[in-house]
Amino acid sequence: MSKSGKSSPPVVMISGANRGIGLAIAHRLHEAGYALSLGSRHSATLLPGVQQCHYDARDADSARQWVADTLERHGRLDAVVHCAAILKAVSLEDGREEDLRELLEVNVLGSWRLAQACYPALKTHGRGRFVQLVSMSGKRVKGTGCGYPISKFAQLAISQCVRNTGWEHGVRAISICPSWVNTDMARDVCKLPADTLTQPEDVARIVQLLLELPNEAAIDEIKINCALETC
Ligand SMILES: NC(=O)c1ccc[n+]([C@@H]2O[C@H](COP(=O)([O-])OP(=O)(O)OC[C@H]3O[C@@H](n4cnc5c(N)ncnc54)[C@H](OP(=O)(O)O)[C@@H]3O)[C@@H](O)[C@H]2O)c1
Repeated sequence: MSKSGKSSPPVVMISGANRGIGLAIAHRLHEAGYALSLGSRHSATLLPGVQQCHYDARDADSARQWVADTLERHGRLDAVVHCAAILKAVSLEDGREEDLRELLEVNVLGSWRLAQACYPALKTHGRGRFVQLVSMSGKRVKGTGCGYPISKFAQLAISQCVRNTGWEHGVRAISICPSWVNTDMARDVCKLPADTLTQPEDVARIVQLLLELPNEAAIDEIKINCALETC
């Protein structure tokens, strides 16, 4: 998705853009000259002059409407970076089914709905990108927390479905799998000092690189660790 030689910059939708990793990606891509469409549940201005749309992962209509609004304003869609998700503690021994349902509703169905909504636009021009913030919890299960990893394994599968479905149309799907990133999500549960975690700005640098690689250098998953993992 090189910006050189094009009359208009690539158009990127970012979910969860109001804070955390999504906001860091929005700042990075905005500074790099991308045209953005930011999705969140809030109306406060995030970046002046940048399109902002209502997006709630629980609502399939909001995903479809966000894509439609993006196409109406920009006339095309080059990439989607899906960052919206929740983390809740759900263990096998005393996990509540309603908490697992909430994780599946937001993290899995939210991803599915957005993938379905954006795919028709991504496959039209031979260079579509579908990037998801998954997690190392989509690669392995550490300890006794089950609900979040279950949702992230499923989210990884959605990336792989998009990859397989879109490959011949030039769509490349990428799962980014960090361990701990210094955001509200980690602050709620991780005891490590903030400066020892991966910083959201570094995830944003990686996302920009992934967006700019050609179809023929397709990366499907990228694992990012702030501490040694040997498995
Ligand atoms: N932080 C980490 O350690 C870490 C590690 C691995 C992977 N990840 C993944 O990276 C992604 C971004 O996480 P983060 O660290 O930036 O988390 P965060 O700071 O908690 O931000 C979560 C974002 O998701 C949005 N969101 C939650 N529920 C939503 C819904 N129903 N509809 C629309 N937006 C919703 C939040 O919006 P509101 O403000 O409206 O709630 C917020 O923008 C997630 O997929 C997360 O699982 C994070």
